[in-house]
Amino acid sequence: MQYQLIKKYLEVMTDEQTLVVNSGHPIGLFPSHKNAPRAITTNGLMVGMFDTLDGFHQAAAMGVANYGQMTAGGWMYIGPQGIVHGTYITLLNAGRLYLGIPDDGDLSGKVFLTSGLGGMSGAQAKAIEIAGGIGIIAEVDKSRIETRSEQGWLSRYSSNLDEIFHWVEDHRSNGKSVSIGYYGNVVDLWDYVVQNDIKIELASDQTSCHDVYGGGYTPQGVTFEEGRELLRSDRKKFNEMVDKSLRKQFELIEIMTKRGSHFWDYGNSFMKAVFDAGVRRIAKNGENESDGFIFPSYVEDIMGPICFDYGYGPFRWVCLSGSHEDLAATDKMAMSRISPERRGQDRDNYIWIRDAEKNALVVGSQARILYADALGRVDIALAFNKMVREKRVGPIMLGRDHHDTGGTDSPFRETANIRDGSNVMSDMAHQCWAGNVARGMTLCVLSNGGGVGTGKAINSGFGLVLDGTERVDTIIRLALDWDVMGGVARRAWARNNHAIETTIEWNKRLGNKGHISLPFIPKEGLIEELVQKTLGET
Ligand SMILES: NC(=O)c1ccc[n+]([C@@H]2O[C@H](COP(=O)([O-])OP(=O)(O)OC[C@H]3O[C@@H](n4cnc5c(N)ncnc54)[C@H](O)[C@@H]3O)[C@@H](O)[C@H]2O)c1
Repeated sequence: MQYQLIKKYLEVMTDEQTLVVNSGHPIGLFPSHKNAPRAITTNGLMVGMFDTLDGFHQAAAMGVANYGQMTAGGWMYIGPQGIVHGTYITLLNAGRLYLGIPDDGDLSGKVFLTSGLGGMSGAQAKAIEIAGGIGIIAEVDKSRIETRSEQGWLSRYSSNLDEIFHWVEDHRSNGKSVSIGYYGNVVDLWDYVVQNDIKIELASDQTSCHDVYGGGYTPQGVTFEEGRELLRSDRKKFNEMVDKSLRKQFELIEIMTKRGSHFWDYGNSFMKAVFDAGVRRIAKNGENESDGFIFPSYVEDIMGPICFDYGYGPFRWVCLSGSHEDLAATDKMAMSRISPERRGQDRDNYIWIRDAEKNALVVGSQARILYADALGRVDIALAFNKMVREKRVGPIMLGRDHHDTGGTDSPFRETANIRDGSNVMSDMAHQCWAGNVARGMTLCVLSNGGGVGTGKAINSGFGLVLDGTERVDTIIRLALDWDVMGGVARRAWARNNHAIETTIEWNKRLGNKGHISLPFIPKEGLIEELVQKTLGET
């Protein structure tokens, strides 16, 4: 019903009205003005004391709260290419960070061991191939392997580890990329590489560890189907097996990291699950989670400092004409606006967009994702709006994923590399949303949860329709820049180096048109010295 109403309102509304949607309920069409957003939506925003999982389930059962998720909450779901692009960038940057791969290099000859060919994790197979490496991905559910294989994301698979490692050696010597599925348990895969002393350069895990006892993780010793049965018939035994399996997986990973493998947590709560299974030494302080865990996490160490702090994030667009020629023309235009020699990140994005058509990731809408920083997003958007003005393409809707620099406050993911204590706050996401409303984005959305869960994140999204007008050129210059730089500014306040560099450049570029305040960084140990001095004097 709500869907039908929203559709109807969108059909009849004028450009002097704004549609208001509260948690999926179209409240109505309100008079506004041409430069106001055409739709403002909020999802699952709960009052503080009720903002818990239980509170959400009760409200959802009464039909007053919905789960906004991330991208879908901004009415711009573009299928799996977003996650493939993000994973590709994570893998390349992990190679740079941990293996010293040069900016213009790729992962050829390097092995990435991981698990999961499911919803998001399935992107690992396609991404490792685009990044030029050798991926071995364990998956217990045959149907998931078959889906990825039929889709062409997984080059080959086997349940025979000897056979798999013959393939790996072939690819190490010929330098060609490949993604190999292991039909079996990831703990058995780790066991094999430890026993056979096989070199693994990069490793992670994408089993659904955010829900280990609910079936997200199949323990070693049972097949996927047996695991499901056990979960139904003997939950206590299932839980014990899960704990034992997680402990064993950790011990094997520990051995491999001592031998030189680089393991990182992929935002799936793997380290928390291992800790809950009884492994205290996975906590940095050996006691509790307050100081974090011993392995790096992908946002904290890779995406945060290397992408978000510079402002690089998942810019995207949809060609509203539905025409593939329009998408091909915009791909070409976007590529011509990137200088691959500027930074490693630009080079990765250039290669991504150059090969986008070949990688055939479009499903449904004619959409593209392309990581870009504030300068890049504004530049590409202006070029697109000009194409629309000149009638070279039909109208385009711009947006972005929420896995980005400025739109999302999520201490377990997007803002995990903000370490000044402010990552428990959600001011940034609210400011981002309000700023986008004020600057005239077409659609502005603010949601609770998304990706990590209710009460754990607030995220703001937008959509901007490029109609070719100069009015939209102005919105592009003001709003797209704000959308990114609000986040960079907050990261600079948290004293993140790359955000400070990016802010200094922005201040210079803007002159007296704008200014972001910068932190004054005292010398290391100053506070301790002052405290000691004061204590000594009393
Ligand atoms: N890809 C990303 O960028 C990203 C970002 C944030 C979080 N995550 C997290 O990654 C996890 C995976 O997400 P998803 O959407 O792919 O979930 P999913 O449940 O669809 O896929 C996980 C897969 O792991 C398999 N699996 C479970 N236990 C296994 C085991 N012991 N050995 C081998 N395979 C096993 C399952 O059969 C399943 O197919 C989630 O916890 C998610 O929150 C991913």
